[in-house]
Parts: sequence; C-alpha cells; structure tokens
Amino acid sequence: MKLHVDRIKKMYAVNAEAIKNIYSYSLPGIYDQKLSRAFEQWKAEAINVSTLQEGDKVIVFCCGSGNDFPHILNKIGEKGKILGVDFSSQMLNLARQKIVQGGWSNVELIEADVTKFKNIPNTPFDAGVCTLGMSIIPEYQKAYHNLLAHVKSGGEIIIGDIQLIAGWRLFLNSRIIYRAKEFGGSYKGHQNSRQIFAMMEKQLSHIRKQHFYNNAYVYCVGRKR
Ligand SMILES: C[S@@+](CC[C@H](N)C(=O)[O-])C[C@H]1O[C@@H](n2cnc3c(N)ncnc32)[C@H](O)[C@@H]1O
Repeated sequence: MKLHVDRIKKMYAVNAEAIKNIYSYSLPGIYDQKLSRAFEQWKAEAINVSTLQEGDKVIVFCCGSGNDFPHILNKIGEKGKILGVDFSSQMLNLARQKIVQGGWSNVELIEADVTKFKNIPNTPFDAGVCTLGMSIIPEYQKAYHNLLAHVKSGGEIIIGDIQLIAGWRLFLNSRIIYRAKEFGGSYKGHQNSRQIFAMMEKQLSHIRKQHFYNNAYVYCVGRKR
C-alpha cells in the first residue's frame, strides 16, 4: 500500500505557473469537449440544492469557460448577476462566446488570480461558487478564504471538486489522478480539496454535501456564519 501511495504522490505536483500554462495554451481549444459530461450533472445538482434565488449576485472563482453559468442563471434569472473570475484570458474568451450566444447581459468577467483578487466596489455577493478550481491551486487556502471574504454573512459557498479517495478504495486514486493530470490534477491537489471540504464543514452552517464516483467528486454547499 505504501509503495502505491508513494507512486501516485509523484504524479505531478500543483504548480501555479504550470497550471496557468495548461489553461493558456494546451487546454482552452479542447476543454469543453474533454470535460466529462458527468460533471455537468454534478454541477447542476450543487446549484439546485443551494438556496440561490432570483436576483442574487454570485461570484464564480475559476469560472473557466463558464460551464457553471447556465445552472446559476436558471436560479438567479435576469435580475441576478454573475461575476466570473479566472486568470486565463483564453478560458475567459470561451466564456465570452457562451455569454454572447446565450445573450446573457448580466454576466461580467474579470481576468485575475483568485488568490489575490479584490472586487472593487467591495459590495458582498449573495453566493460564491468554485468548481474544479481549488484542487489545482497551490495556495488553495488563500483562494478559499478570498471566496468567503467576497460573500455576505448568511450567503452561500458552493464548491465542487475532485478529492483524494480514502479507505479501501484508495487504489482508485492513481487512475483518477492519471486522468486528471492533463487538467492540472495531482495527489497533493486532491488532498487539498479534502481539506477544503473539511474546513467548510467546520466553519459553515447548513451543510449539504454529496459524493459521486466512489467519493472522488464531492460538492459541498454551506452558509457563511
Ligand atoms: C478545471 S478548470 C474549471 C473551469 C470551470 N469552473 C468548470 O468547472 O468547467 C480550472 C480553471 O481554474 C482556473 N484557475 C486555476 N488557478 C487559478 C487562479 N489561481 N486564479 C484564477 N483562475 C485560476 C484555470 O484558468 C481554469 O480556467
């Protein structure tokens, strides 16, 4: 078992510059086609169990090509607003295409690093969303606390991500990390997202958590105290 863990630990480490390169050069052209369809259902479910409602303002960290936007817009309607943040201008261009195609005049995008981003003016959002982002950010705790800082007390935090599988199914990690590494996935990153979910359960209230695919994908929704 130890040999197995040592082997998968070596399968790529999280590195911010490498991640930015992946999402600036190799992935944008193929991202949406490559992303497993299963994520769509899991993303939609997380948004559906949230208390997002018509007119809400939502900040989306690591919004990428905007795959979460339709699910969020279904809940917040035309009166709501989305601010998508991502550090890859190429991924944001894909999101921009969806915004034009969908005729979404209430979605704004900002190119920035979510570990450092500060929204000005500093009016808090009703909810913060991040899917498939935290597990590839080396400074994931900074990103998580920054997401929290942008959401009002009583507002909702919605995070979905791949996490390291524990227990007897641990052997599945190597296959999952092998497939995720093209997207910046790594042993450390998947361990980090476990930490995020543990932090959410400790710090937030009204937790709703769901596991999929042998516990490898989790969404967690909670309310900021
Ligand atoms: C796997 S994609 C997820 C995109 C989208 N949330 C989705 O589920 O389809 C990860 C995204 O995170 C962005 N990203 C990674 N680290 C970031 C950082 N520190 N600041 C801003 N964006 C980041 C990448 O550019 C990429 O678009």
